[in-house]
Amino acid sequence: MNAGSLITLEGIDGCGKTTQLPAIAEALGQSGRDVLETREPTDGAWGQRIRSMARSGELVAPQEELRWFVEDRREHVEQVIAPALARGQVVVCDRYFLSSVAYQGARGLDWEAILDESERTFPHPDLALIFELSPARALERVRARAGTPEPAFEREPYLERVAAIFAAVERPYVRRIDGSGPPEAVRQAALALLSD
Ligand code: TYD
Repeated sequence: MNAGSLITLEGIDGCGKTTQLPAIAEALGQSGRDVLETREPTDGAWGQRIRSMARSGELVAPQEELRWFVEDRREHVEQVIAPALARGQVVVCDRYFLSSVAYQGARGLDWEAILDESERTFPHPDLALIFELSPARALERVRARAGTPEPAFEREPYLERVAAIFAAVERPYVRRIDGSGPPEAVRQAALALLSD
């Protein structure tokens, strides 16, 4: 059991979760919680390696790619997440193990096995919010915002498979949010789920 709580934001690239994170953290703070915002991939050594792989378009075997994300998460849990939970903080994490389930599962790995293994290894989220949006619309948003798309991850057929796995995951801690509306509507939906 965690002393604090772990809230994770999940969904395909462009789904809007990163836009909503500050609003979610702020609402939790206003209700008196001690909040820690964090994200994966992290800024640690594994996270940097992952980002440079994504930027360069370098193709890494799925099993190896999974290993990098798991090592990044192991470090993140040990150094950041577990101590914060032990202090009783509410940790709001932009991506967590469901991203490995969906993204590395979409590269052909057994996603149910990744989920089982993740749950054996890492603290479970108390709440995992999955922001749902069609890959076509999500990619429009990604292209519209500043910065270059990441070729290793942001391709439509691949994101279709990622979205299908996010849609298939059934766990008591998962709640889904329609990410297709304007940011204010999505924010209201997220806050309503949090107050539940
Ligand atoms: P993203 O949240 O887009 O980070 P940022 O926008 O801050 O660079 O994450 C980068 C990519 O990593 C994203 O396309 C999803 C992918 N990813 C995985 O494939 N597996 C994982 O376990 C995680 C955490 C992310």
